Amino acid sequence: MGNENQFYLFSPVAIEVKDLRSEGWILDIGGGGEGVIGRLKSRDVVAIDCRRDELEEAAVGPLKIVMDARDLQFLDNTFSTATAFFSLMYLKTREDQQKVLHEVWRVLQPGGYLHVWDVDLSERPETDKEVYVVQLRYTVGGVKKETGYGSQWPEEKRGIDYYVKLAELVGFRHVQTETNSHTFYLLFRKEAQADTLSNP
Ligand SMILES: C[S@@+](CC[C@H](N)C(=O)[O-])C[C@H]1O[C@@H](n2cnc3c(N)ncnc32)[C@H](O)[C@@H]1O
Repeated sequence: MGNENQFYLFSPVAIEVKDLRSEGWILDIGGGGEGVIGRLKSRDVVAIDCRRDELEEAAVGPLKIVMDARDLQFLDNTFSTATAFFSLMYLKTREDQQKVLHEVWRVLQPGGYLHVWDVDLSERPETDKEVYVVQLRYTVGGVKKETGYGSQWPEEKRGIDYYVKLAELVGFRHVQTETNSHTFYLLFRKEAQADTLSNP
């Protein structure tokens, strides 16, 4: 990753990526790079990423498609499950994140789930470094791996509340939160219309 002095390094976090219950295809947003969800669910995964090289780098198994998550080329109500494993942090603006969440909501079936893993940037540490790196020691399917995900500090404070509000704005219901040091996991559900009516 070049000269590490250029980056603000968060201390390494150990994450166990547990199995996901899903029916049919899982849409993985920003599924290039390590392709963690592809390692977990292999051929059940449709991995989309705007960068061809990132998809080429990812492990074989998933169906890999070059696509911008802000403009998904799938029909409405296609997937029962979607995932974003440290991908939302790569979107530079709130508008882009909102577009992606809206698109994911659109292509999910009613009752479908969105699983998000990301970094809590609600507090910015004292640093003059423009780029931060989240260091992960992750375990997937019993295999241990290490990686670092780097991006520029966003203008806004992006913590759990920020992501929950953004997802709720496009229509998701927040179901679950787990925190792990400065990272988190959030689960959201696209309510079926009948659920929405009975739980206003
Ligand atoms: C480094 S990966 C994050 C980790 C990845 N999910 C994994 O399992 O290793 C983030 C990816 O999001 C992709 N990305 C950023 N903006 C995107 C967009 N608008 N549409 C699709 N992919 C995007 C980047 O190209 C990058 O490959």
